[in-house]
Amino acid sequence: MASTSPASPDAVDLLILGAGSGGYAAALRAAELGVSVVMVERDKVGGTCLHYGCIPTKALLHAAEIADQTRESENFGIKATLDGIDMAGVNSYKDKVVSRLYKGLQGLVKSRQIEVVAGDGRLTSPTTVQVGDRTIEGRHVLLATGSQPMSLPGLEIDHDRVIDSSDALRLDRVPASVAILGAGAIGCEFASVWRSFGAEVTIIEALPHVVPLEEESSSKLVERAFRKRGIGMELGARFESVKSTDSGVTVSLEGGKTIEAELFLVAVGRGPVSAGIGYDEVGVAMERGFVTVDAEMRTNIPTISALGDLIPTLQLAHVGFGEGIFVAERLAGLNPPPLDYDGVPRVTYSEPEVASVGITSAQARDRGYDIVDNTYDLAGNGKSQILQTAGAVKVIAAKDGPVLGVHMVGSRVGELIAEAQLITNWEALPAEVAQLIHPHPTMSEAVGEAHLALAGKPLHSHS
Ligand code: NAI
Repeated sequence: MASTSPASPDAVDLLILGAGSGGYAAALRAAELGVSVVMVERDKVGGTCLHYGCIPTKALLHAAEIADQTRESENFGIKATLDGIDMAGVNSYKDKVVSRLYKGLQGLVKSRQIEVVAGDGRLTSPTTVQVGDRTIEGRHVLLATGSQPMSLPGLEIDHDRVIDSSDALRLDRVPASVAILGAGAIGCEFASVWRSFGAEVTIIEALPHVVPLEEESSSKLVERAFRKRGIGMELGARFESVKSTDSGVTVSLEGGKTIEAELFLVAVGRGPVSAGIGYDEVGVAMERGFVTVDAEMRTNIPTISALGDLIPTLQLAHVGFGEGIFVAERLAGLNPPPLDYDGVPRVTYSEPEVASVGITSAQARDRGYDIVDNTYDLAGNGKSQILQTAGAVKVIAAKDGPVLGVHMVGSRVGELIAEAQLITNWEALPAEVAQLIHPHPTMSEAVGEAHLALAGKPLHSHS
């Protein structure tokens, strides 16, 4: 292991603070490479993603899809009626999924002989973490304490009527109405779930579009679908205040508009968990609470690395996994190649889903590319018609060059993005992708069709 600090014989090779996606991925890979590992965790191994984020929300979204399909069953000639949403049943399904995965993860951690120390850890020196009265020493320390929901200055989350995403996951009822501040992934996913469960939903977003970091045409398709689903949207709106009322809240926007709702979900981003746990005292460099790292996840202190939502890279569980594997391999001396963040797929699992990889048209133009693009409408795709989903696949390529970005909207397009990831990461030319025969009838044909059109030989579309 590459380390320069003097360490006592009791020191483990790698001491990890935080056992979420980034921390546990580093632990699993490091242990596999023969590195001795201790992880300190105050809650549960698996962190936000497994217990309060990705996994439970996707279970809710799947239950929501079943509700929608039941409601729409007559479109397929099936007679079924939706008698109601039993939140206790939905939560029990969601909790079972989480608990099965949690058991599996605990088994993996145990089988790789990784010690997990339960409790609140505090960094006390460049090589030590204090947990209760125990001091643990590591030749190398990895900070992986993740993130937590943020709010706005002066907007207090009371966890009753004004709630965050963790509260939203614990609800034991379907609210009659919800106002949601922020149309990023969290805002859109909960809007989708609650609308499918029958709530009146209004999203408030400061920027002009929902999922504002996505390709603009993707945002517009989601807005069209949300409008059709009866989800209200206040776009380009500035939040002013929220007041509790007898039946819920009144949300006021700049310009005088008000929205009455039973609940108000604040989904304006997540902030790093870095205060009050010794980072400042030990001298770890930070900016706006995020730990500052170089491209190899090293902090300013030679024995300390950091990753995941704690550093200012994409706040996605799979980025945490990638960074964890990278750090473990670096510490084991494997010299891994640097991570390519443009190559990371992003998925918002609302109905419809939004998935993308590579760069947007705006980013491509900012980077000086002359671009060409093609949008294949799912209306022409057999499987999408069978599933009755609307949406599109848009491919952006450099003129006479490789594919730079793929942007999709539609039910389950998250499952299609891995092919696009290979296309962009291998810098394939549209004509090379057009040579690949896609299975028929699948939604993946839409990926093939967009490339066929870009290569000048459209099949089921006009050029
Ligand atoms: P976000 O940063 O993705 O979206 C927050 C939204 O709130 C932005 O669109 C922003 O313009 C808006 N906003 C901020 N201040 C506002 C104001 N005063 N008034 C109105 N709108 C305002 O954050 P989000 O959705 O809370 O998610 C947190 C993190 O977790 C993100 O990095 C997200 O990507 C990640 N996440 C990823 C998921 C996925 O990959 N499917 C699912 C859930 C979360």
